[in-house]
Amino acid sequence: MVLSKTASQSDVSVHSTFASRYVRDSLPRFKMPENSIPKEAAYQIINDELMLDGNPRLNLASFVTTWMEPECDKLIMDSINKNYVDMDEYPVTTELQAILTIDDGFWKQNRCVNMIAHLFNAPLEDGKAAVGVGTVGSSEAIMLAGLAFKRKWQHKMKQLGKPHDKPNIVTGANVQVCWEKFARYFEVELKEVKLRDGYYVMDPEKAVEMVDENTICVAAILGSTLNGEFEDVKRLNDLLIEKNKVTGWDTPVHVDAASGGFIAPFLYPELEWDFRLPTVKSINVSGHKYGLVYAGIGWVIWRTKQDLPEELIFHINYLGADQPTFTLNFSKGNEGYRNIMENCQENAMVLKEGLERTGRFNIVSKDNGVPLVAFSLKDNTRHNEFEISDTLRRFGWIVPAYTMPPDAQHVTVLRVVIREDFSRTLAERLVMDIEKVLHELDLLPSRVSEKLATTISVEEYHPVVVKKTAIEVQREITTAWRKLVADKKKTNGVC
Ligand SMILES: Cc1ncc(COP(=O)(O)O)c(C=O)c1O
Repeated sequence: MVLSKTASQSDVSVHSTFASRYVRDSLPRFKMPENSIPKEAAYQIINDELMLDGNPRLNLASFVTTWMEPECDKLIMDSINKNYVDMDEYPVTTELQAILTIDDGFWKQNRCVNMIAHLFNAPLEDGKAAVGVGTVGSSEAIMLAGLAFKRKWQHKMKQLGKPHDKPNIVTGANVQVCWEKFARYFEVELKEVKLRDGYYVMDPEKAVEMVDENTICVAAILGSTLNGEFEDVKRLNDLLIEKNKVTGWDTPVHVDAASGGFIAPFLYPELEWDFRLPTVKSINVSGHKYGLVYAGIGWVIWRTKQDLPEELIFHINYLGADQPTFTLNFSKGNEGYRNIMENCQENAMVLKEGLERTGRFNIVSKDNGVPLVAFSLKDNTRHNEFEISDTLRRFGWIVPAYTMPPDAQHVTVLRVVIREDFSRTLAERLVMDIEKVLHELDLLPSRVSEKLATTISVEEYHPVVVKKTAIEVQREITTAWRKLVADKKKTNGVC
């Protein structure tokens, strides 16, 4: 939820022309109105305001599902009045959804958690249920997984009679913002492996180098938020096994498979990134990304019961069970997911090739990864990626531009997430619109140099006096542009 600010006095009423046939006075925006109004008028007023939202289908910024089959919509609407945490009253919903339950010491069967644990190759004994929990998304799943690692590490250090007040976690600088939240909320130091030019994911060698006795886990990402790339979890696992042998530390791995968890098993079944690797103790995945359901659902799955400290589980009245979940997506089966992921991947290629044909972009994403296309301008000295993003808005497209984290912050990329509802026709249409945008921008004077001339002092900017490399010029322009586009400053707020 976004924190809200207090409104200015001038903006405290809602004036609705259309609804004036029912309501003549303007309505207070932030206080409950004194009198009631007809339901038709209330609907009309709210609906009119909502029209100003972007069109979710054209929102290419987000991984989150924007289309489901009408049968799914119907099932959701049919069940919307069930408070699914009332387990006694809704036992079927309870079994379908993914809530962690314990019954007389045995893990109860839970369909979603078990299906996902099998998909991620958890080492389950015959007939034994998997260990996992449904959440509102990967962010919450990551908080729970991180907390379990912190507790396990604290127990271990206490047993060894060692200090246990300075836990740290090792990640790449490309982690999604929820890892920073975890670190701050749960007081764990975040040790980030810096990126570098042309390498935008965590380098496993550097990560393992950074591991020390206080490292509660190394978090690897299967499908980087920034460019969709899968990190090399196998290499990380192998290096960590070596280091653990020498040090005796037993440092584990968590895989943030928010997007990749529903891609890799279908497109790259041979890729070893999951519980097949012994150091991987927990994995999170978002249902509302490539799990193909609306927001908000996610899961965290633990390798075994021992990887989730018992004291984190509430035994009273299913207290931990406040998570919404629908399991509609599972009617697709393996084949359905594979078809959809292959289709997404093909459409990503159509877009990528279209962008390459313009001759104006470098592709920053990899072909094998999350179906998305991240790209940057080969030459952004006259116009940059932020201007392309802004101008595309006029055509209805929402395509974010952002700068990479340290030490690749001079690189700016545009990113298009390819979801199930982004068809080949839309991909071709987007390329055409990008070409139009490039053409329009080419005809305009360079906004950056114009602004630089008027807003940046001579002391700050000496283009003539000093000869600069292309990268230095690019860095300078990015810095200047950041000053001008204050509201687009946050680099890893993309999700
Ligand atoms: C790699 C990664 N981890 C975690 C998240 C957070 O996921 P959620 O929106 O499901 O909380 C995202 C969101 O984009 C992500 O890309």
